[in-house]
Amino acid sequence: MSDRPVAVLTGASRGIGEAIALRLAEEGWNLTLISRSIDKASALLESLSRPEDHLLLAADVSLFSEAERCVSESMKRFGRLDALINNAGITKDNLLIRMSEEEWSSVLSVNLQGAFNFVRHALPVMVRQRRGRIVNIGSIVGLMGGVGQINYSASKAGLVGLTKSLAREYGSKGITANLVAPGFIETAMTDVLSEERKKEYLSGIPLRRFGTPEDIAGVVSFLLSPEASYVTGDVINVSGGLYM
Ligand SMILES: NC(=O)c1ccc[n+]([C@@H]2O[C@H](COP(=O)([O-])OP(=O)(O)OC[C@H]3O[C@@H](n4cnc5c(N)ncnc54)[C@H](O)[C@@H]3O)[C@@H](O)[C@H]2O)c1
Repeated sequence: MSDRPVAVLTGASRGIGEAIALRLAEEGWNLTLISRSIDKASALLESLSRPEDHLLLAADVSLFSEAERCVSESMKRFGRLDALINNAGITKDNLLIRMSEEEWSSVLSVNLQGAFNFVRHALPVMVRQRRGRIVNIGSIVGLMGGVGQINYSASKAGLVGLTKSLAREYGSKGITANLVAPGFIETAMTDVLSEERKKEYLSGIPLRRFGTPEDIAGVVSFLLSPEASYVTGDVINVSGGLYM
């Protein structure tokens, strides 16, 4: 069994997931990195200080059986599971009047069903260990809504309910569950927005800058640390004040 703590992290290949991986590896975690494609994530793996300490798995988080395989392979390799970070997420923005069923269901499948799939398989291990930390990456849009984001905001609001229910069901087993709600973070996901839309967002941010993936990684690191052992069922906005 690994003598270092082990975290399963989804959507690890880039953006916020990449920053979380770099931060946790630096802090001495062994990581099971879940990515849709091995190619993209293997560059990240090689950039971690001790690549041999981590496991990289290709999987689509929206598939229940894939989540089961990932948790099982992670357990086979490390023999313990201390934290799960559900970070994988997609957007398919459209106004409701034009939104297709596929745009709705694919976003719900990855963002909400994906988190359920991993929690469902990680939880029994954590209950057996009588310890575990679960961090879901939501969005302030899940709290305040967003134009053209009916699917995305519903998925992220769903994650709030999932997180709070988990905290209530498994607090007595030594397991915490929290949600980090990023505001506007500079990644590939927000790169596609028009300059006009970006300007609009910026004017609403009291700290007058967009967030970085590292801003999110720092809060995730805190939630996995001993200092956060009494924090559960909480939603932490990391938005520079865009939502408060
Ligand atoms: N960037 C922002 O401003 C912002 C704001 C609020 C919330 N978020 C959330 O933060 C998380 C990370 O976003 P990001 O900005 O780094 O985006 P990103 O697009 O750069 O990264 C998303 C990651 O999820 C992975 N992924 C997507 N679908 C997957 C699937 N089916 N199976 C496995 N992996 C899959 C991608 O491969 C990628 O690694 C997401 O949940 C996103 O909703 C981002």
